[in-house]
Amino acid sequence: MKTLHTILTLVLFACGGGGSPSDSDEFLSDALSMPREPTVALDGFASAEQCGLCHEAHYREWSTSGHAYAMSDPVFRAFVAVRQEHYGGKQDMFCLQCHSPIGTRGGEIVPGFDFAELQPITLEGVTCESCHKVASLARPYNSGHVLEPGGPMRGTIAEPAVSAAHESSVRADVKRLLAGAARVDIATVATSVRAGDVVDLLVTVENNISGHNFPTGSTFNRQAWIEVVVRDGDDRIVFATGTLDASGEPRGSSRAGPGEGEILRLGSILVDARGEPVLFPWRATEHVSNALGPLGERVFRLRVPTTRAARGPLSAEARVLFRAFSPTALRALGLDEYVTRLEIHEVSRDRTSVELRPP
Ligand code: HEC
Ligand code: HEC
Ligand code: HEC
Repeated sequence: MKTLHTILTLVLFACGGGGSPSDSDEFLSDALSMPREPTVALDGFASAEQCGLCHEAHYREWSTSGHAYAMSDPVFRAFVAVRQEHYGGKQDMFCLQCHSPIGTRGGEIVPGFDFAELQPITLEGVTCESCHKVASLARPYNSGHVLEPGGPMRGTIAEPAVSAAHESSVRADVKRLLAGAARVDIATVATSVRAGDVVDLLVTVENNISGHNFPTGSTFNRQAWIEVVVRDGDDRIVFATGTLDASGEPRGSSRAGPGEGEILRLGSILVDARGEPVLFPWRATEHVSNALGPLGERVFRLRVPTTRAARGPLSAEARVLFRAFSPTALRALGLDEYVTRLEIHEVSRDRTSVELRPP
């Protein structure tokens, strides 16, 4: 599933969705992905459930994936609602061209559309046939694939068995991506320091994925950061960065060089013309990314002061953490009830220790 997913993901940035609301009465359209008149018939597509009758495992995997929730995700709906308001419905097909290509091309997504009135196939979001009925790619961004409902089911099986349900055909250009994620390493410059001196820590984070950034996709929604906690010989925290503050946001450290006060962020933010962070992509003028490129590596240097009375050894632990949304974003969307359900995933962890010599 990775390849098509990545194509869709890459394009998110190509499109940006930036700019400011236009005064024109025209609604945003595109002959291929946001047509003014339907180019496919909704009833030309089968539901995932029907595919699941034979492809049980694929159905199970799909139904818990982000693709299945592309249209029902409350955060997505909240973003769309705000955008409908900002643009008076004139750009309603923009987000939907990817989140429900079938519904958008099938004529269901019209200016001012209402989620409550959509057909089940549209609400299936990125369903089986929005990928397996792709005949070709017209452009590598913004839902640039050509959907052919009447065509064969395209997949990777070189000589698919004959099936009563559908014709099958191989897509030779589907490349497999390597699975993997980021890895963190924490090391000390010196294995022992005098109490009262500064301990230099090197935190290296590495993207093991060859195909895309870490994190990837809508990184301005995502949060990926490094947490570093240093404890003394009495297990007291003497230094921390990336731990959560009262609002649930990762704290910066006042002593995290090179950029003093910088938190070790790996995601990205959107900013407006004045450089202020903004939540809504279409209000942003710039995307400032800290993501790690494919197979990229970054080294952060942390300077941890100690006191003359400190007892060693110091133990330092670094973790790469990831979560789907920031609590601030959910609150701004009026989705406070989801804040406590946000899960933080540990991507990688490493630790090291430093001896303290008498001053
Ligand atoms: C986001 C696009 C996407 C969606 C949605 C999707 N698939 Fe796939 N599917 C793929 C890709 C890409 C492959 C090729 C496998 C690979 O490269 O790992 C694939 C492979 C397959 C195969 C071939 C056997 C195999 O595992 O390689 C079958 C069968 C299949 N999918 C069925 C389904 C069914 C049924 C659904 C819905 C329940 C579905 N797919 C949803 C993209 C998708
Ligand atoms: C009646 C059973 C049945 C149903 C229903 C069914 N399929 Fe299949 N499908 C098959 C068989 C059999 C194959 C060949 C598998 C093989 O060769 O290992 C296949 C192959 C595929 C392939 C691989 C094609 C290739 O050339 O690599 C894809 C993709 C696929 N099906 C998707 C779907 C989707 C999407 C649906 C729902 C719209 C669906 N199938 C419904 C039986 C079914
Ligand atoms: C070019 C295709 C494309 C367009 C256009 C697009 N998205 Fe997405 N969207 C994606 C993909 C792919 C993902 C999954 C990427 C990921 O997991 O980071 C995604 C994920 C999301 C998520 C995260 C869903 C979750 O629960 O994790 C939200 C929210 C979202 N999009 C909102 C929007 C909004 C709002 C718009 C319109 C302003 C939009 N998208 C336009 C492709 C697109």
